[in-house]
Amino acid sequence: MTGIFDSGVGGLSAMKAARAMMPRCDIVYLGDTARVPYGTRSNAQIKKYIAEDIAFLEKSGADAVLIACATASSVYISEKMQFDIPVTEVITPSALLAAAATKNGRVGIIGTTATVENRAFENKLRQISDKIVTTAVPCPLFVPLVENGLTDESDPVPNEIARRYLAPFITFGCDTLILGCTHFPLLSGVISKQLPGVTLINSGEAGASALFRALSRKSRSGSGSIRYCVSDAPDKFSVTASRILGEKIEAEEVEIGR
Ligand code: DGL
Repeated sequence: MTGIFDSGVGGLSAMKAARAMMPRCDIVYLGDTARVPYGTRSNAQIKKYIAEDIAFLEKSGADAVLIACATASSVYISEKMQFDIPVTEVITPSALLAAAATKNGRVGIIGTTATVENRAFENKLRQISDKIVTTAVPCPLFVPLVENGLTDESDPVPNEIARRYLAPFITFGCDTLILGCTHFPLLSGVISKQLPGVTLINSGEAGASALFRALSRKSRSGSGSIRYCVSDAPDKFSVTASRILGEKIEAEEVEIGR
C-alpha cells in the first residue's frame, strides 16, 4: 500500500498520474481538508502536519509515501525530516524536469507563500546547474480557486488573478515555468493563456514519476484498490475530486493526529 497526501485536492494531479503509471498499485490518498491551505502557515506548523499525515498513512497500511504537496515537500527538505518508511517529494523531480526543459536558462517558479519563502525549487535548481536563472512568485489565491472548482479557462475570475500574478514572468522571459504547487496543474489552461509558448512543469506528475521509480515492482502490483480519506467535509471533496479525476469517487472522513 502506498500513501499519497496533500492539504486538499491538489495532490490528485499526482494521484491521477500515479494511477495511469501503476494501475495495480494499492493507494490510500489523504487530503487534509480540515487544515487546507498549508501554504500560508509557518514551517513549524506544516512540519507538525506532515508528521501527523505520514503517521496516519502508516497506520492505514502505507509502506511508502508521496508528499503530493510542494509546500509540505519544501518543509520536509528544509527541516531535514526523517521517517521510518521511504518518502518521495515533488521538488527534486520537478527541478530536474525544468532544468532539462529550459533552452534559454530562465526558469520561472510559482508556488504557495511558504514554498517560495523556503526557496526550495531555487536551491534545487542551483544544485543541478549554476547556469539557470530563476524568478519565483507566490500565487496563494490559486489554491482556493482550485479547491472551489474555479479553474475554467473561460471564467474571468481565475484569468484576472493569473494575469496579475504572472505578469513578472513576461518581463523575465522564462521559457519554462514550474507549477510548484500540486493544485496549479489544474489551472494549466488559465496559466498557458497568460504565458503562451512557455513549457509548464507539472509538479504532481513529476512526483508521480518519482514515486514510480522509488517503488519496487512488488509494491506497484497489488489489486489497484484506492481509498480516499479527508479530515473534513468528505462530500465537498468527493464532488470536486470526482470532477478532477473524471470518475465518481466517495471520500471518507478520518481523524488525523490522534
Ligand atoms: N497542493 C499544495 C502544494 O503543492 C498545498 C497548497 C496549500 O495547501 O496551500 O503546495
